[in-house]
Amino acid sequence: MQSAPTVQGLPFLRNAVPFLRAPLRFLCHVREEYGDVARIGLGPIEMTLVSHPDLVEDVLLTRSKLFTKDRFLREQLRPVLGQGLLSSDGDFWRRQRRLAQPAFHRDKIAAYGDIMVDHASRLAREWRHGEIRDVHKDMMRLTLEIVARTLFGANVGDHAEEVGSALEVVLAVVADPLEIFFPILQRMPTRNRRAFDQAVKKLDSIVYGVIEQRRKSGATETNDLLSMLLHARDEDGSSMSDEQLRDECMTLFLAGHETTALNLSWTWMLLSQHPEVDAALAKELRDVLGDRPATFADLPKLRITGHIIMEALRLYPPAWSIGREAREDLEIGGFLVKRGEHVGCSPWSIQRDPRWFDRPDEFLPERWDGDLAKKLHRYAYFPFGGGPRFCIGQAFAQMEAVLLLATLARDFRAEVLARPRIVASPSVTLRPKPGVRARLSSRP
Ligand code: HEM
Repeated sequence: MQSAPTVQGLPFLRNAVPFLRAPLRFLCHVREEYGDVARIGLGPIEMTLVSHPDLVEDVLLTRSKLFTKDRFLREQLRPVLGQGLLSSDGDFWRRQRRLAQPAFHRDKIAAYGDIMVDHASRLAREWRHGEIRDVHKDMMRLTLEIVARTLFGANVGDHAEEVGSALEVVLAVVADPLEIFFPILQRMPTRNRRAFDQAVKKLDSIVYGVIEQRRKSGATETNDLLSMLLHARDEDGSSMSDEQLRDECMTLFLAGHETTALNLSWTWMLLSQHPEVDAALAKELRDVLGDRPATFADLPKLRITGHIIMEALRLYPPAWSIGREAREDLEIGGFLVKRGEHVGCSPWSIQRDPRWFDRPDEFLPERWDGDLAKKLHRYAYFPFGGGPRFCIGQAFAQMEAVLLLATLARDFRAEVLARPRIVASPSVTLRPKPGVRARLSSRP
């Protein structure tokens, strides 16, 4: 069997330069020029990029057992996330997912709606007409407070900021391309690594502190995620050790806060660029909510709000690339992928492919009005991944994004400043650089 067509590049570095310089453009270029299966070389790393929904389905769902998470997750994120849901594999992951799943059931997370609206309302009270703010910073703080509160209950509120800055340090180090291409650096006492170790230590002391406090108090009445994980029992009656609980808490902090903040930050930018969509949103919020706060029960009525969030996730998927590693030699789309090689699927590239979406680069929330979601290939739109490893927090995130946007956009419009220009910067997640600075105006 042959390998897929190889993308031309330099000796040794191969495609690393265009990939590192402009990964989003590079991924679309590879799909357009080389087709649905193409082989990329990133220095010593071999990657097969699949750009057709059938093949994404094959990797993430149908033959998911033939893959593990990729080396980036295993080697770079594991020191922070340990054996948490995002970075573990095999039977260990399966058991953790079984234990954690009930905590994310729709009925359970519905209870968090009021917490979300409460935090968003506090931010709305801080916002002033005419003021210029970085709304991305605001979204990061807001989603961090919410994940801290829903995960740990009341007692972590004071730590939210410390957790936020420690996570920022950790993410900056793990996404450093130098460390990815030269893993030896991870074992050297560089400045980066010292900052990383300190940040992990800080996170450990906060998270273990809360777990210990909770075990000591024996509180059973708290309705937060930690207590659900703490009391979760497997079929044989076993439960999670402190270390596993620590890993899951860290994972939920990391996976659950920046992603949703990014979804909202991109939404603010898109709304500012499309005043007609913003006006339709404002009307829906006035009609549905009037002067009262949004609730979980409003979600089905907030149709335009929901479609705006979906469309922002299509154009700017926070998880812009999803990676796997082959457990054995196998075939994808008629081409050979050898054991240990990477396979990449990119929501950014596929969700902007004109074969699946008309006018793919345009922000058209109304495209979701009809039955597009039903007609579309399940893997042509996959901002939350798919198969057994799909995002456990999907319902949580969708509810959070709609309730936060509804609460803030009912009272305010954000007009994004022309300068500095916002650039989509793909790190571990897809970030707006240098932020989303906007002038706020209150709605009449
Ligand atoms: C807009 C927001 C979000 C997006 C776009 C997103 C995206 C994703 C994606 C694409 C995956 C699959 C990764 C893979 O297959 O390798 C994933 C997994 C995961 N997400 Fe999310 N996520 C979001 C919000 C959340 C929230 C709010 C939480 C928790 C409260 C969360 C927790 C997780 C966890 C624990 C996993 C690993 C699941 C497993 O492997 O069993 N995510 N997410």
